[in-house]
Amino acid sequence: MSEKEPIGVVGAGWVGLVTAACFAELGHRVVVREIVPEKVETLRRGDVPIHEPGLPELIERNGERLVFTTEMSELLDGPRLLFVCVQTPPTYSGDADLSAVQQAVEEIGDPAGKAMVMKSTVPVGTGRTIHREAPDLAYVSCPEFLREGTALKDFMEPDRILIGTDPGEEWAGDAVAEVYEPLGAPIVRTDISSAEMVKLASNAFLATKISFINEIANVCEELGADVTDVARGMGLDDRIGARFLQAGIGYGGSCFTKDVSALKMLAANSGYHFQLLNSVIEVNELQKRRVMAKLSKHLDSLIGKRVALLGLAFKPDTDDMRGASSLVLAARLEGESANVVAYDPVARDAAAPLLPGVEMASSAMDAVEGADAAILVTEWPEFAKLDWAEVARRMNTPLLVDGRNFLDGDAITAAGVIYEAIGRPSAGDRSVVG
Ligand code: UGA
Repeated sequence: MSEKEPIGVVGAGWVGLVTAACFAELGHRVVVREIVPEKVETLRRGDVPIHEPGLPELIERNGERLVFTTEMSELLDGPRLLFVCVQTPPTYSGDADLSAVQQAVEEIGDPAGKAMVMKSTVPVGTGRTIHREAPDLAYVSCPEFLREGTALKDFMEPDRILIGTDPGEEWAGDAVAEVYEPLGAPIVRTDISSAEMVKLASNAFLATKISFINEIANVCEELGADVTDVARGMGLDDRIGARFLQAGIGYGGSCFTKDVSALKMLAANSGYHFQLLNSVIEVNELQKRRVMAKLSKHLDSLIGKRVALLGLAFKPDTDDMRGASSLVLAARLEGESANVVAYDPVARDAAAPLLPGVEMASSAMDAVEGADAAILVTEWPEFAKLDWAEVARRMNTPLLVDGRNFLDGDAITAAGVIYEAIGRPSAGDRSVVG
């Protein structure tokens, strides 16, 4: 069996760990350099510091091929391909904070015969700037499209692999293409800036799709149509596609929020006003607030009312609270002097410090006990299995706002719960429209 290309990974965050574990699974020896010593200790002990389904098992299975180190020299001694997977969080101005990328660039230096493969999401133009600083080190833009919660499957079955190189460095692009080749996905070769733009434009487009369907949902509410049927009817058109047409309380997470604003700022800095993205952002912010109006339809005031949040993470199968809609909702509810209680099967520890005024319940049933309203914020599968008749008995007012259109409204209404959803006729409206 021929020896597989060794791989270096800079950063043991979510992208770095998934990338490292999956390359190890494909048979590569992978050296992961992480700057935080405690994280390296944790990983060496065999613990995984993030929640991603299947990742601990994958890391354990490939332990022999995975090396975790704090030393950059250990990375630079071996592999030719150095995958940079560090954070690029938003700054107050909405631009991307590139300090972690910059630090990696400085530490890697300018060794000839190696390539920096950028997985982190960076503004268009970053690759070429880095390359001017380190002209001997080849540069490959290889944006990642993994989703939290399904990252292992996304890595192993990608829709496409983007590889951006500039003239003269095709060897580096070829080497990256070769390590992804076993996945059998289409490989798209472009220049560096175009690859960087594909990443930002893809996230911005998906966010636009979500804001669009949310606006359709709002109009459906006014006109008595059902957005889930509308989305199904639209999605069967190949040109539109069914995915990312799920209406709800808006997109959350670090990526869409960050990348939509980064693209808007990037355009603005280049002198172009990206009008559409302003609306995408505004619709997303307002969508979370519409839940409050749904509560007011049934409750005179929220002062002193007990409101249960079912789910806190920005989406299921993660404990990530970045950009989570629950944070906005809890703040709005507290602003109206409601008492907020919450339950999340996984994100409780991550959420508690961010929501100091919120009571953390240990089950969904505990959360709804004595509540005047419940809001389904994250579509965790266990919420679909709840005994809604029991929920109705336990609540003070059996009112549920399904912020993800996740549940069977008819069944819940039949169980005695007043059911409100997003862009779907509510129980009362249903009887009117027959
Ligand atoms: C997103 C992209 O989907 C990935 O391709 C990309 O790699 C990643 O950002 C990134 O840039 O790192 P992620 O943020 O993990 O992935 O989660 P998504 O599954 O895309 O969901 C984002 C948000 O949109 C969630 O809050 C979700 O609830 C919401 N959403 C998604 C909707 O409201 N409606 C939908 O139809 C789909």
